Amino acid sequence: MRQKLVVGNWKMHGSRTQVRQLIEGVAAGSAGLAQVEIAIGPTLLHIGLAAELCASKGANHLKLAAQNLFAEPEGAFTGEVSAPMLAEYGVNYVIVGHSERRELFAETDQAVAAKFKAAQASGLIPILCVGESLAQREQGASADVVLAQLDAVIEAAGIEALQSAVLAYEPIWAIGTGKTASKEQAQEIHRVLREHMAKSNATVAQGIRIIYGGSVKAANATELFSQADIDGGLVGGASLKAEEFVSICKSAD
Ligand code: 13P
Repeated sequence: MRQKLVVGNWKMHGSRTQVRQLIEGVAAGSAGLAQVEIAIGPTLLHIGLAAELCASKGANHLKLAAQNLFAEPEGAFTGEVSAPMLAEYGVNYVIVGHSERRELFAETDQAVAAKFKAAQASGLIPILCVGESLAQREQGASADVVLAQLDAVIEAAGIEALQSAVLAYEPIWAIGTGKTASKEQAQEIHRVLREHMAKSNATVAQGIRIIYGGSVKAANATELFSQADIDGGLVGGASLKAEEFVSICKSAD
């Protein structure tokens, strides 16, 4: 049985006060949830604060997810943050290959693969995001696009590396649009991803958690999470409201 995982991707949101309030709200609301694994993803600037708050509020059940990293461990890379730095702050997960980074910051499949490997080298669990655009979906290319994104990482890191990773299917047309993929659309791509990995390594394919992202909210979480190959959610906007996020976590518990 794969343990369900719900990750809040706060993107570039939050003041110190908001971080505090959100963590307090999520910690209190999720304290009794025994089955689901929960991670919160503040900005890199707020990671240290979030780690301290989780420890001091008795919210050690909340894991920390970083939204980005740079592939080198240290050096003259102005403005970047490395995997060893994140690990030192107690970060558990790091998102790589988010479509916003691929599109707005021109991250290539190769750069994503390098980040994936760097994360694992420091003991972090990468959450590898894949997803197609609306135009690609309308051309019937959804499966081809996500499999190419996945294969770029498999080629660089090897299929066994996915044993300590999470995959996130995030169709770009569903991100921040309020337009969620139907449970059938999401399940279909999750199934395709798992079957593809099974061709190389059945154990990895069965064990890896594939979470869905794209306008997940309390109202649609239960039906999404009940699909055979959907192992949780990567939640953007709805993770910024403690009550809503906790309700999503309860759907996975
Ligand atoms: P929304 O939940 O706001 O659509 O964002 C999804 C996402 O990009 C999570 O990484």
